[in-house]
Amino acid sequence: MRKITAPVIRSMKAEGRKIVMVTAYDAATARMIDEAGVDMALVGDSLGNVVQGQLNTLPVTIEDMIYHTRIVSRGVVHAHLSADMPFMSYQASKEDALRNAGRLVKEGFAESVKLEINEDHVETLYAINKAGIPVIGHIGLCPQSVLEMGGYKVQGRGRHEARRLLDLAKAIESAGAFAILIESVPRTLAAEITKSVRIPTIGIGAGPGCDGQVLVINDLLGLSPEPIPRFVKKYANLREVVDQSTRAFIEDVRSGAFPSEEHSYD
Ligand code: KIV
Repeated sequence: MRKITAPVIRSMKAEGRKIVMVTAYDAATARMIDEAGVDMALVGDSLGNVVQGQLNTLPVTIEDMIYHTRIVSRGVVHAHLSADMPFMSYQASKEDALRNAGRLVKEGFAESVKLEINEDHVETLYAINKAGIPVIGHIGLCPQSVLEMGGYKVQGRGRHEARRLLDLAKAIESAGAFAILIESVPRTLAAEITKSVRIPTIGIGAGPGCDGQVLVINDLLGLSPEPIPRFVKKYANLREVVDQSTRAFIEDVRSGAFPSEEHSYD
């Protein structure tokens, strides 16, 4: 199978092919989603919540992202591998941004980077792309701004905010991004943004009008504790499977049923 590159992702919009992106944080999961046929694996800074058990993504460091991207890269053969730039790895200066995006590529083997974007970051996106690193611009609900937002809220409601996001998407396209990730905005706005740009949009909580969809792997598999966001569709209930399997193991060990002869050496 052909390796999926940033230009391939870009061309999928014109070809009318929906893009499927799933997050991964380790090699074993990355191998499974790659073999299942996803187009893109994202090492999201959601690893702060999902893997590290943090309250939000703010404590995630560039070292954390490099480590997880490197181990995910060992499981990904076919899918395009993108990595998030964590909080404060690109906000302070363009130099920081270039150095850290470069590290994700050189040390983590990322094939593109994703930045949460507001108007102040468009030039940074341009500089990273000019350095030869494909970039995804993340708009709408940007979890790294949780303190400023005062919580996780649907973005782009009202005419003024909708106009701002539409203009931002166009600026991101002009700055050279190969895709835009849209998180938690009304479906009509996401569809309008999708129609207004030539690069693909990948939605999460942004309705069916986007060119692709992304879910966090733990949400998709039913590994995340309740409550889960409204936009998540659970395709399995692995929490239940883990609970039942672990309880069965505990019972077997305590009762002496495990290990039996078949699980022992002569
Ligand atoms: O960090 C993450 O997992 C994300 C999601 C929006 C997919 O950015």
